[in-house]
Amino acid sequence: MSSADMIRAMSEPTSQTVAGETFSPIRWTDELGLELLDQTKLPREETWLRCREPEEVAAAIYRLSVRGAPAIGVSTAYGLVVGLQSMEEGGDLRQRFDQVSELLGGTRPTAVNLRWALERGRKVFEQHAEAGRQASIDALLDWAKRVHAADIDSCRAIGAFGAELFSADDRVLTHCNAGALATGGYGTAVGVITSSWDQGRLAQVWVDETRPLLQGARLTAWELERLGIPYKLVTDSSVGALMSRGLVDRAVVGADRIAANGDTANKIGTYPLALAARAAGVPFYVAAPLSTFDLTLASGAEIPIEERGADEVLGANAGEGVAAYNPAFDVTPAELVAGWITERGVLQPPFPGD
Ligand code: MRU
Repeated sequence: MSSADMIRAMSEPTSQTVAGETFSPIRWTDELGLELLDQTKLPREETWLRCREPEEVAAAIYRLSVRGAPAIGVSTAYGLVVGLQSMEEGGDLRQRFDQVSELLGGTRPTAVNLRWALERGRKVFEQHAEAGRQASIDALLDWAKRVHAADIDSCRAIGAFGAELFSADDRVLTHCNAGALATGGYGTAVGVITSSWDQGRLAQVWVDETRPLLQGARLTAWELERLGIPYKLVTDSSVGALMSRGLVDRAVVGADRIAANGDTANKIGTYPLALAARAAGVPFYVAAPLSTFDLTLASGAEIPIEERGADEVLGANAGEGVAAYNPAFDVTPAELVAGWITERGVLQPPFPGD
């Protein structure tokens, strides 16, 4: 099957259960409903946020309590359920669904998994809305659980395909956090790392800090520590030096949105990493589920890039009145990427457009 056929074969989730044993930053129980691990507090504190209102889900996504494109998609799916569960008695069901969709859809513009979940959730809603509120809630909850389980299945498949590219002495560099925390569970880039480690195809991981919010230092290091995978934390600015000194054999990162030509948006700092990898002859891979491909976009130039507050850049160290600019993502041109590791195999563009 060609890359294009694999993308065309993208299907609705079929898993019935959350696959295997893996850590998930998102949980649903009948007693408490939706709970999200507050990643803004990691690694110091493991606090779970209970979300009873869609506004709480939206706020958690916006402030990065739950983050990473696939985890945003899964939380959005559950967020639709929370929205219908918390609506006022006698309220207009369709109006409520639209309001909640708009609220969740306005949180983070770059991760296409958010739109992916809203579009599919709407289809489920449309099929059950006539049967009333409870039928719609039941159908959406069943679907959200399947989306969650399918995301973990996808990550495990991504891990298995990615591990085939790795060998025993590899020192692998990753950026931001594309681990269990960023997905339904298991992770994409960290899934590849985990699977490679389990198969004896990895020596060590380089984790870059990932300014400004330190997803590498706070989250990826925390995950690798729990997994018992050897790693070293490095500053973002040391990556070129590591590559040119021959200390990196491979780089693997996640993605927030991949255009039909393969241009890939990911956490700011990914593009310079890919440039350094190209200059040093280090293969640079993107690991992402098919839900992260946006085939409505011809190229990365069309990907909306989230701009976040200056406060995230300024932190505690900048002087009073310092001006800052904070684009949260960059776009790596397809020609810098050696392969897109998906749940259907390692793909190459062009991916089929709409
Ligand atoms: O701003 P964040 O922390 O949501 O950014 C996350 C990333 O850039 C990840 O690399 C991407 O979403 C893939 S997560 C599997």
